[in-house]
Amino acid sequence: MKAQNWTPWLSLPLTTLALAASSTPNLTTKHEAGRCAIRGHCGSQSFFGSQLPCPDNGLASAPSPDLRDHIISVCGSAWQDRDVCCTEEQVETLESNLKKAQNIISACPACKTNFFDLFCTFTCSPDQSLFVNITQTVPKNDKFLVTELDHLVSDDFGAGFYDSCKDVKFGATGGRAMEFIGGGAKNFTSFLKFLGDKKPFLGSPFQIDFPRPSSQDFGEMETILTDPKPCNSTDEQYKCACVDCEASCPALTPLEDTPECHVGLLPCLSFAILIIYSVFVTLLVLAVSGHVAAAKHR
Ligand SMILES: *[C@@H]1O[C@H](CO)[C@@H](O)[C@H](O)[C@H]1NC(C)=O
Ligand SMILES: *[C@@H]1O[C@H](CO)[C@@H](O)[C@H](O)[C@H]1NC(C)=O
Ligand SMILES: *[C@@H]1O[C@H](CO)[C@@H](O)[C@H](O)[C@H]1NC(C)=O
Ligand SMILES: *[C@@H]1O[C@H](CO)[C@@H](O)[C@H](O)[C@H]1NC(C)=O
Repeated sequence: MKAQNWTPWLSLPLTTLALAASSTPNLTTKHEAGRCAIRGHCGSQSFFGSQLPCPDNGLASAPSPDLRDHIISVCGSAWQDRDVCCTEEQVETLESNLKKAQNIISACPACKTNFFDLFCTFTCSPDQSLFVNITQTVPKNDKFLVTELDHLVSDDFGAGFYDSCKDVKFGATGGRAMEFIGGGAKNFTSFLKFLGDKKPFLGSPFQIDFPRPSSQDFGEMETILTDPKPCNSTDEQYKCACVDCEASCPALTPLEDTPECHVGLLPCLSFAILIIYSVFVTLLVLAVSGHVAAAKHR
């Protein structure tokens, strides 16, 4: 619909076109691999507000060596030879936000890895336009600031991410980390909603909506994150301890494995004691009555 509004501009002379380019935001009109949706910081809405990203539907590009090193140090070696859609200032913000989360969930590497994968991919993936669609911008000077966008995440990844984090404990009192990173979410949709909601402090500076991929027709868009790390992973790199991951607690030994010995309602030991006791009593009675009988015979 918006595209239709734009078409008349295309027939205007080039000078007007250049003007028009700066007066309409570059929304995510193309959704394809190798193409971005947002890039760089374009300013903030208020003096104390956080920096908001610029709409940018251009191609992903190779980062400078310094930027690449920084991305690898934050997001891991998977970023060794990828093009990216993020800039140095974005990676700095990403790093400081991820550090806050890491303090809370560091006990469980699977949860931490999924958390980092989600936000590293969101910020830097070269295929960003596949899973991000800008839905709202506001003009600021001669630029536009992104204030809201859709971020498509598969149910599988969302649920696996939530499951890997839901039992993680935090702090001396052993409170649930989910209270801090997920607002006490009880399922993956409310977890993602909490993570994406625009909040003045310790939250996303712009609204990230996580619509479920099945909730409407997203056209060319697709989810790209797969294989969330389970917290009971057999891989030591991701495995979390029982206290932080119910699924990795040793299974309760089924009753069949160590059948308790019972005779009727009595445990075997009691039964044995009872038998032995009875035998003694019987012998005693026999002995006493035998003694009495013998005494009478005399
Ligand atoms: C939109 O993209 C074009 C080409 O990349 C660029 O010249 C123009 O400045 C952009 N417009 C805005 C508002 O950012
Ligand atoms: C992307 O967002 C725009 C609004 O900015 C909307 O018109 C369009 O339908 C959305 N595209 C998809 C694939 O959801
Ligand atoms: C998650 O919980 C919220 C509120 O607690 C509920 O509205 C929503 O339907 C739940 N989502 C799923 C997928 O169960
Ligand atoms: C991890 O937990 C899930 C669900 O509790 C279970 O289905 C799976 O077999 C477990 N995997 C391992 C490797 O223990």
